[in-house]
Amino acid sequence: MDLQRTFAIIKPNAVRNGHIGEIISAIEREGFTIHGLRMAQLSKELVRGFYIDHLGKAFYPNLEAFMLEGPVVLMALEGENVIARWRELMGATDPAKASAGTLRRAFGEDVTRNAVHGSDAPETAQREVMYFFSAFDLV
Ligand code: CMP
Repeated sequence: MDLQRTFAIIKPNAVRNGHIGEIISAIEREGFTIHGLRMAQLSKELVRGFYIDHLGKAFYPNLEAFMLEGPVVLMALEGENVIARWRELMGATDPAKASAGTLRRAFGEDVTRNAVHGSDAPETAQREVMYFFSAFDLV
């Protein structure tokens, strides 16, 4: 048994294209518990702090501009082995390389506009959940 928590984002393209419901349905079908959920329009500063590990990379300016395009949905998820399982459900970072049936294959447009985010490890998950949620926001 490895009950974990992870952090997920429904990115601006998936929100604008009307896929919030389908993505949340996929999360619930998988049996994950949603223990935090909110919408937000991110600021430059918030995006920079969140993606701090990518700040110097060539793709960062595109990523920042994309994440500011419109509102996002922020979620804290809980479940057995949820970190790996949510990443499986999302599919590969590049939607063109993501398997059929994954969310990025279904809703992503390219490696930047890839529809959803998920933490990659327990330490990252902890940092990312606490970056956007206070203990009061988590049920
Ligand atoms: P995400 O899982 O949110 O983590 C970092 C984000 O950077 C990634 O999804 C993509 O949206 C974006 N990105 C753009 N280009 C690349 C790239 N070449 N490799 C990894 N991530 C990229």
